[in-house]
Amino acid sequence: PQQQQRRGVCGNAHAPRLSLRHAPRSSRCAPCRVAAPEAPTTVSASTLNTSFVQDKQQYEALYKRSIEDPAGFWAEIAEQFHWETKWERDHMRYNFDVRAGPISVEWFRGATTNIAYNCLDRHVLAGRGDQTCFIWEGNDVGREKSMTYAEALDEVCKLANWLRAAGVKKGDAVAVYMPMLLELPLAMLACARIGAVHSVVFGGFSAESLAQRMEDCKAKVLLTASGVMRGPKSIDLKKIADKACKLSAEAGHTVEHVLVYENDNAVPAADCPFTPGRDRWWQSEVAAQPTTCAPEWVEAEHPLFLLYTSGSTGKPKGVLHSTGGYMVYAATTMRHVFGLQQGDVYWCTADCGWITGHSYLAYGPLLNGTTQIVFEGVPTHPTPARCWEVVAAHGVTQFYTAPTAIRSLMSFGDQWVSQCDTSSLKLLGSVGEPINPEAWRWYHEVVGKGKCPIVDTWWQTETGGHMITPLPGAWPEKPGSATLPFFGVRPVVLDEKGNELQGEAEGILAISQPWPSTLRTVYGDHERYQSNYFGPFPGYYFTGDGCRRDADGYYWITGRVDDVINVSGHRIGTAEVESALVAHPACAEAAVVGYDHPIKGQGIYAYVTLMAGVEATKELKKELVGSVRSIIGAFAAPDVIHWAPGLPKTRSGKIMRRVLRKIASKEEDQLGDTSTLADPGVVATLVELRGK
Ligand code: WTA
Repeated sequence: PQQQQRRGVCGNAHAPRLSLRHAPRSSRCAPCRVAAPEAPTTVSASTLNTSFVQDKQQYEALYKRSIEDPAGFWAEIAEQFHWETKWERDHMRYNFDVRAGPISVEWFRGATTNIAYNCLDRHVLAGRGDQTCFIWEGNDVGREKSMTYAEALDEVCKLANWLRAAGVKKGDAVAVYMPMLLELPLAMLACARIGAVHSVVFGGFSAESLAQRMEDCKAKVLLTASGVMRGPKSIDLKKIADKACKLSAEAGHTVEHVLVYENDNAVPAADCPFTPGRDRWWQSEVAAQPTTCAPEWVEAEHPLFLLYTSGSTGKPKGVLHSTGGYMVYAATTMRHVFGLQQGDVYWCTADCGWITGHSYLAYGPLLNGTTQIVFEGVPTHPTPARCWEVVAAHGVTQFYTAPTAIRSLMSFGDQWVSQCDTSSLKLLGSVGEPINPEAWRWYHEVVGKGKCPIVDTWWQTETGGHMITPLPGAWPEKPGSATLPFFGVRPVVLDEKGNELQGEAEGILAISQPWPSTLRTVYGDHERYQSNYFGPFPGYYFTGDGCRRDADGYYWITGRVDDVINVSGHRIGTAEVESALVAHPACAEAAVVGYDHPIKGQGIYAYVTLMAGVEATKELKKELVGSVRSIIGAFAAPDVIHWAPGLPKTRSGKIMRRVLRKIASKEEDQLGDTSTLADPGVVATLVELRGK
């Protein structure tokens, strides 16, 4: 609830619990009877540990402090966590400028901690062990269970003990390929408990993708499940995992242990392939382990996890996040952006296979001692009312999802929402792609009944936590804008030459100083990290997004400026889809672009040049789509295959994607300058073949 702000005659805002450190005794400040300077010089970040931001003025004071003294600001916030040893005075060091040497970011130097301890033990030791930690909603209606903080701690300890017994040591990578069972976040915490580095691979990825990721991080242990239900379909996850292990072995990497959770609802043990010696059944092995397990105290900079994400070129990158900074930032954004209060029931629909499921399902809620829903299913199964039924059944207070889900649910009509009691909702969140104002309004009016703030959170796998986002109720929102930067985040709008633009401007979004959960490296390739993120505009972290800043200083994300597309909130590199297409023997060349899609946000549009003599048939289109499904995963399947006898190229052979995008969106009348095309005739041919 909003608390009334008081303003003293000194001009200072006297929001409740905002501690303003007043300076000289000479100038008067009547309400608080303490002398004050004209403007507050320092505000204490620790106010954020107990209260929410009341208004823009308070935000501005705290924001200023967070930018001018990041080390002090975040240290004050970090006090609320358990640190086995404290950080040094001068704990934050960094170099964000490639011209000055290697890029490095360090927070809480000298400190040791354990994030799983902070997520679980800390609450249990404080007497909150009986509080519900997870409410699990299965894919099928009626399959539910719940778990308290004390029970979650027991489960994490058991699994952590099993991992230790399997030989997993501090710093080793563990691959996790699981459906959205509670065992997935528990597995992440178990890894963190023993200082192992988890690498969660989304269950929709193919065997090839899983194999590639396991090889890259040299995972010796794989945690998986027999199967998974997706709506009415069951998927043999273990079969895919087996194929991935085989592919890895062929590439010279051995996965030594596979722990298999029997998800009998989808695939019972009897139908699940099992390799004795290598494979173990989760339920029997883990149950036998003790429920206590000493946490591994790790340095703040110790790697916590790897998460592979798509870039504009090459293979997916293993984005590495470290422990201390990530913990403090994920927890703080979680608390303030969602306005968490005692008794809340929070629900994030993301899968733990993506960053949202890491920061705002596995870690953020638990660090804050929240009760949350974990949902295995899909929003439209068995009916488009499913989400709202869950909201009504459990009294969900905060609901966080992607615009693609909102648009999809919106397309079924309002009645699915209206038939459910969604009055418990206090706040709605959006993540993953720009939200169009129409979907924003539907979310606000139909789902939120006009009373819930919408937090449109802009951030990335690389940023670890929210970067630009409203704080509920602190300032007015505008549909489609992520509004203002979170504490410690300094966004800048750059022109193409890398000059900072002031005031109202449109350009490239970059960040000019480190925040606690800055990605620390690309696993095994620091060079790629530097060139990819810090190379394009020296001195800045390059986000890959374009943006506009309006007259009120609000940021509007305009989408990727590189060759990454955002399909249903899933990030896909066009180069990856192209190479999956070219892997088909009939395909000579492929060029992939994004196009506007009413539900998915962006769809995948693929131009394919066939090998000489190959006939362009409907069946072949299906085969090509199948190739992408099996190499990357079903979610990356192209929506359109467009036959292209030739592609628009410059004289130096570079594909002009701009031209391809225009043809895909039927805007060939706005091609702009095509004088550099090697063969201008190619455009007319492509237009003619559209839809064929
Ligand atoms: C896009 C997801 C507009 C953006 C957390 C970014 C957004 C990419 C928003 C990162 C938003 C994410 N408004 N665009 N609120 N949130 N994006 O790594 O293009 O899967 O660069 O992280 O999603 O995707 P990623």
